[in-house]
Amino acid sequence: MSVTALPNATLLSAYEAMTPGSAALAAQARDVLPSGVAHDSRHFDPYPIYIDHAAGPVKWDVDGNRYVDYFGGHGALLLGHNHPVVMRAVQEALQRGTHFGACHELEIRWAEAIRRMVPSAERVRFTSSGTEATLMALRLARACTGRSKLVRFRGHFHGWHDHMTSGHASHFDGTPTSGVLGGISDNVLLCDPNDVEGISRLFHDHRDIAAVILEPTGANFGKMPILPSFLSVLRDLTRQAGTILIFDEVVTGFRVSPGGMQQEVGVMPDMTTLAKIAAGGLPGGAVAGRKDILDWLDFKATKEAGQERIYHPGTFNANPVTAAAAVATLDIIEKTDACARANAYGTEVRRRMNDVLVEEAVKWAVFGSYSGIHIYTNPDGADIDPHHFDAAAFIPQMMSKPRGEGVTGKVRMGLLVNGVDMNSGPSGTISAMHGEEEMTTTVDAFRATVRALKREGAIN
Ligand SMILES: Cc1ncc(COP(=O)(O)O)c(C=O)c1O
Repeated sequence: MSVTALPNATLLSAYEAMTPGSAALAAQARDVLPSGVAHDSRHFDPYPIYIDHAAGPVKWDVDGNRYVDYFGGHGALLLGHNHPVVMRAVQEALQRGTHFGACHELEIRWAEAIRRMVPSAERVRFTSSGTEATLMALRLARACTGRSKLVRFRGHFHGWHDHMTSGHASHFDGTPTSGVLGGISDNVLLCDPNDVEGISRLFHDHRDIAAVILEPTGANFGKMPILPSFLSVLRDLTRQAGTILIFDEVVTGFRVSPGGMQQEVGVMPDMTTLAKIAAGGLPGGAVAGRKDILDWLDFKATKEAGQERIYHPGTFNANPVTAAAAVATLDIIEKTDACARANAYGTEVRRRMNDVLVEEAVKWAVFGSYSGIHIYTNPDGADIDPHHFDAAAFIPQMMSKPRGEGVTGKVRMGLLVNGVDMNSGPSGTISAMHGEEEMTTTVDAFRATVRALKREGAIN
């Protein structure tokens, strides 16, 4: 079913008509899960779709509707859903056991692959998620520098632990978010992205900065772009100050290139946090970086150095099933053009979606870098040329209007009704399995959405 099939239907009535099964499940979910969801970005008004199964670049909901998928497992699935080689590796691992509570060979192969591919990785410690990876990286930085302050950039996401909540989607003044101690947020300094003067001032004013952490293509996978020259500025400043530079490559790692953003720009961080693709699309994460820093986790090295070792258990660290998926996934990424294919699709789909905006005379922009798609719905009515949108110049506007607000939810609904699933940014990540058929569906869905929103008076 689509808006084109029901020309008089509103997007909402078309959505409700095609998703009765999702509506029923959402009603049950609200009774047991806060907001009926398990992840904030799955929250959607009036209710989210419930997925039944997926394959390659597409997925099907419980009502049998088919969607081109740009959630991609929250960015974890560069190889698409159910890649046969990855699935085989997982099935073989499952036969042998889901958890040994012991060392196993695949964790070595997994760490070796990360070290071969990520230029700055000398040692690797596995965690169970990206949140745990940034938590550990920041603790390592504080331990090895003996300093307390952390610098982060407004809008950047590093998971949901206490040290990284203020300044992501709210509390841009650094005050603590609900449930977080002021003593923790007091030790986190916020800076605007690409603000050379601001970061220089922080280093001038504070001698106790343990670490600077950032998403190296910018917040939300390049939605608020970081200029590559800014990465070099950060490298110079942190080196001079003896501060640890952490690239959070949870999204960009093994996606923008086999060696992540650090390989792309040739700027080497001291530590890198990884998850998503790094864990083969299954639950898992890792901290990779300089040996002397990760030695703070090492029994012998800390004993010899007279240091108090950082304690690090974790029931699912380097889980054998995840390890199997990760080794298979990284092998394909290392040996094929998977990253390049997803990136090329990104360039082309953004171009064609912008053609739609030009044809429809809508002053929005579809932008992004590598295999990311973002739609700027221009809430302030700026004079935008879709094909030449300078997203870095619009970071303050994006920061002041959290995603999912305004027309963005309607864009998402329009795309869903027309067979495409993006998040409420609206943003999406592309897999190496997206091809011409998915591109055509996406561009047609975007055109139908824009026209439907015009009919509904949501855009003019
Ligand atoms: C850049 C970045 N860092 C950290 C995280 C947290 O990872 P996880 O969801 O595995 O805890 C995410 C998750 O989306 C992320 O995008």
